[in-house]
Amino acid sequence: MENKEILNVKDLCKTYHTKQGETLAVDGFSLILNKGEFISIVGPSGCGKSTVLSMLCGLIKPSSGKIEYKDNIKIGYMLQQDCLFEWRTILDNCLLGLEVKGKVTDEDKKYVIKLLETYGLKEFINSYPSNLSGGMRQRVG
Ligand SMILES: Nc1ncnc2c1ncn2[C@@H]1O[C@H](COP(=O)(O)OP(=O)(O)OP(=O)(O)O)[C@@H](O)[C@H]1O
Ligand SMILES: [Mg+2]
Repeated sequence: MENKEILNVKDLCKTYHTKQGETLAVDGFSLILNKGEFISIVGPSGCGKSTVLSMLCGLIKPSSGKIEYKDNIKIGYMLQQDCLFEWRTILDNCLLGLEVKGKVTDEDKKYVIKLLETYGLKEFINSYPSNLSGGMRQRVG
């Protein structure tokens, strides 16, 4: 395996601040990831796994620590909860990101439909999330 470092995480910490008080969710998480590696982060419920992933993809800011990507890589992140909007069709849920950016072209639509076909969801393009199984919802997410 090529030993090329693509991600270096050092001493990552995250404290959530709520009305109820402070929660130290991640305390000193470090990781080096090399190209081609497949890793799992395992730990008890509430130990901070989702918080780490949300920081790695830039959804939330660390309280302290360093996240350094060595290459200009693209990140795909499937959230623990699918967060689909129940009132939008599967196709419209998938187009939401582009719609918010104000640019849904016919080409984009075709690409999204092709992706949905790839994930075995072709016949559900015009269905609503409530008609899908848990795994199908995850794939839409
Ligand atoms: N948005 C938030 N606001 C306040 N506290 C939070 C928030 N999200 C998570 N926490 C707290 O941070 C800690 C870590 O939560 P996190 O969701 O990262 O755990 P997890 O390892 O993914 O758990 P699980 O295996 O159950 O998915 C928990 O104590 C949780 O209560
Ligand atoms: Mg989680």
